Amino acid sequence: MGEVLKASKESIERAAAILQAGGLVAFPTETVYGLGASALDPKAVARVFEVKNRPSFDPFIVHIADSSDLEQLCTRINEKAYKLIDKFWPGPLTLVLPKSDIIPDIVTAGNNTLAVRMPSHPIALELIRQTGLPIAAPSANPFSRLSPTTADHVKNQIGSKIDLIIDGGSCAIGVESTVLELTEEAVLLRPGGITIEEIEEVIGPIKTTFSSAKPHSPGQLLHHYSPHTHLQIIKDENFVIPNEIRAGLITFKGVRDQSRFKNVEVLSESGDLYQAASNLFSALHRLDVANLDIIYAEAFPETGIGMAIMDRLKKAEHKS
Ligand code: TXA
Ligand code: MG
Repeated sequence: MGEVLKASKESIERAAAILQAGGLVAFPTETVYGLGASALDPKAVARVFEVKNRPSFDPFIVHIADSSDLEQLCTRINEKAYKLIDKFWPGPLTLVLPKSDIIPDIVTAGNNTLAVRMPSHPIALELIRQTGLPIAAPSANPFSRLSPTTADHVKNQIGSKIDLIIDGGSCAIGVESTVLELTEEAVLLRPGGITIEEIEEVIGPIKTTFSSAKPHSPGQLLHHYSPHTHLQIIKDENFVIPNEIRAGLITFKGVRDQSRFKNVEVLSESGDLYQAASNLFSALHRLDVANLDIIYAEAFPETGIGMAIMDRLKKAEHKS
């Protein structure tokens, strides 16, 4: 249990065999590490719910290694879906479409739609391909906690409860995939690695409901992606930190006065939002074990992938 193996031909073969036998394997994707199980095996999927302590109403994303596999998993795949697949798969875009009968209800938490994506990470693709199965894979963290972007994050949070962790280094994108429903109309359910601007360029205007209090998608719960340490987004620039308080800081470019902070995480000195996204969860994991009373986070520009960064910070800030 909890073994970590560097990605190699042998370790991927072993991981595929574990998945085929109904086991659980954590593996890298370009967004975050996923906790994989065969999407055709209800018992294996039930174990993922248990390991993550995830409420049974929250459905999983199914991962495929070939875009044509979508046709077995979903029905009524429309023109918009094909256009987006053409442009963004493999990559960090998850599409929610009417499900076919081969997917057990536990995967979709009883919904009649299924979320599917084809990741671009070569290790994820090779692993899925070798299993010959659709792979259900939520982020490999306990429910509502920080997402993992390294094998160590997975090991520290859930390592003892799963069969194997494939270590493929850090995840390049660092925030989860964008989740887009494409049933009646196109509705953004979670901002992520592919930006709204990029999607609208291909299919025109989409609806965005991800900040609503009444979630369409369980991932829209207001409290999510949280460190154990209290996090607060800086709203008033004149805020004062009392002397006895040990404060950490998440800053975009690192230009503010840092003297009052015990630990400072600069996400991108050059002001690159993609670099900031890729550093976000690692920085939060480090601050969370630094024995701080509070983590302050700067507000990020809500354009492009900055929208996904702010979505994660707002959910980390929100008290459950
Ligand atoms: O980048 C990612 O998407 C990562 C990697 C591992 O691929 N996976 C991931 O999975 O973030 P998870 O389970 O942590 O988040 C899946 C999100 C949740 O917000 C869930 O509520 C939503 O997708 N979702 C899944 N199926 C859905 C459905 N049928 N309808 C609406 N939302 C759905
Ligand atoms: Mg997650």
